[in-house]
Amino acid sequence: MWLFNSNAMDVLVQPNALTYRVIGGVLDVFVFTGPRPADVIAQYQAIVGLPRMPPRWGLGFHLCRWGYNSLARAIEINDMMVNQSLPRDVAWLDIDYMDRHLDFTTDPVAYPTAAFGAWVQQLHANGQHFVPIIDPAISSTQPPGAYPPWDQGVADDVFIRAANGSIFIGAVWPGPTGFPDFTAPQTTPWWQAQLAAFHDAIAIDGAWIDMNEPSNFVDGDGDGVKKLPSPTPLPAAHSASDGDSVSAPTAYRGSGPDPGDPKWPPYLPGRLGGATLLESKTVAMSARQYAGSHYNAHNLYGWSEGVATMAAMEAVRGKRGFVISRSTFATSGVHNGHWLGDNEATWDDLYYSIPGTLTFNLMGIPLVGADVCGFGGPNTTAELCTRWQQLGAFVYGFYRNHNTIGKAEQAPAVFPDPYQSYMRAVLNDRLRIVPYLYTLFHLAHTQGTAVTRPLFFEFASDPAVVAIDTQVMLGNALLVSPVLTQGATSRQAYLPPAARWYDWYTGAAVASTGVTTLAAPLSTIPVHVRGGAIVPLQDPNMTTVRSALNPFRLLVALDTRSVAPASAATGSLFWDDGDSLQSYESGACLVLSWAATVSQASGS
Ligand code: GLC
Repeated sequence: MWLFNSNAMDVLVQPNALTYRVIGGVLDVFVFTGPRPADVIAQYQAIVGLPRMPPRWGLGFHLCRWGYNSLARAIEINDMMVNQSLPRDVAWLDIDYMDRHLDFTTDPVAYPTAAFGAWVQQLHANGQHFVPIIDPAISSTQPPGAYPPWDQGVADDVFIRAANGSIFIGAVWPGPTGFPDFTAPQTTPWWQAQLAAFHDAIAIDGAWIDMNEPSNFVDGDGDGVKKLPSPTPLPAAHSASDGDSVSAPTAYRGSGPDPGDPKWPPYLPGRLGGATLLESKTVAMSARQYAGSHYNAHNLYGWSEGVATMAAMEAVRGKRGFVISRSTFATSGVHNGHWLGDNEATWDDLYYSIPGTLTFNLMGIPLVGADVCGFGGPNTTAELCTRWQQLGAFVYGFYRNHNTIGKAEQAPAVFPDPYQSYMRAVLNDRLRIVPYLYTLFHLAHTQGTAVTRPLFFEFASDPAVVAIDTQVMLGNALLVSPVLTQGATSRQAYLPPAARWYDWYTGAAVASTGVTTLAAPLSTIPVHVRGGAIVPLQDPNMTTVRSALNPFRLLVALDTRSVAPASAATGSLFWDDGDSLQSYESGACLVLSWAATVSQASGS
């Protein structure tokens, strides 16, 4: 069931009930009848729209960090990757490249524009791509004439307005800022003009749109917490008797000190998650957007920025767009991908990235992944980072290593052997599976199938797989059983007996009646190929662009129980130039399918 509503809400999942407590908007409820789990998500995507086809380079390995304090350092890290034969499709930069954290500027000392632009051209010559961070909030305190994004934005009336009609001012990295209203029709052309002007200097290939919940370092109008009344319990009629006893009832706000201000709703969702104020660390609920009040439109901010940014980037480059957003809403997958936000370099967060990735695949946003090796928390370790590089290569549609300022460098290039050699091996495996992965994205784009799937999508009649969240299927052919425990060199895994399985590394058939102990030395992540699948592969060469010049291979994993004329294996390939707009829709592509038969059953 899906409640299509953008207002703040609590969703309580209880043993015998699902309770929505929503504080506004339209009650538009959809029930998807399946019957199979995979049908449910295809039905959902038939309504919200199918995921956008990413450029092929977007499926390669992305390397980022916050804290490359100079262009020289960014170049040094890239050179280390290249010189040590460590594949890196995409170089990323965080807010470090900007002048005083102002969007669409470059730091004149640390990232001089001419040298920066020349480096990006060099990346392109290497078959690499470049994606910078672009935050939505625009500095409002530069002298008139000094900062065109603000001046032009004011002239074009693109900024969200406060209840009193003035431009709403919050604070983000550059200090005081206005927030573009991406629901207003005049905002996309203004945004496109800023991206185009920046692209003229630095030929960016995509956009990383962050802080777009929208994040504000001030709570709304800035005086909320001081006025916050202490929470009172929900009225009895809404507590245990209606089945809420599993999740303790959240607090009832009653009317706040200013009942006329929408930041004091009669009920405050999110108390269970620790929320204290509806406009905590965001724009004031009373602020005005083209689409309506921020109270109603808040949860659409990142979605609307994604729509505008994708349209603008495709217009600027004339090629397939690549946009990764921190905030999403239903239909975001039609426009952009997502990373799972600020995680920590812990084994727990390595695990949590699996349900996170699966969830976004179910919601039609398959271009998703977590910060590989961990963003915040403690420094990563060589072991954790190796395991994370391995997991990301086979589990995440969007595969990016990123960490925060002040923490130790965690690019694969800085680790000693044997860790670095294990990372190189799995980076090459990622490139090897790109033809298969790209085909899975094509199927998602045309049919609404998940790229990374829970096992119950493929083995719906096997009750043993229902609760499995430490293994995934990549498409229908690869079963991935990552190691999630420090020090482990083996793991228990479930190989559904309904299929035949082959070891990814040796090709050996694996006898399984269900739960199996798999050897998992630090050098490898257990991956099994399902009998009956034909998997298109390609020999790796540093980037998806260069690898595309190499021979393809077909991995044919026979289902040895099949008897001719039934196929013992089938598979398909979608291929095109990798980044043209509408290549499938215009027919500028190749779609192949294969079937293998054996003349006699060779198994039991
Ligand atoms: C936010 C982002 C993070 C980024 C940082 C600095 O925390 O989630 O990825 O590195 O801002 O821009």
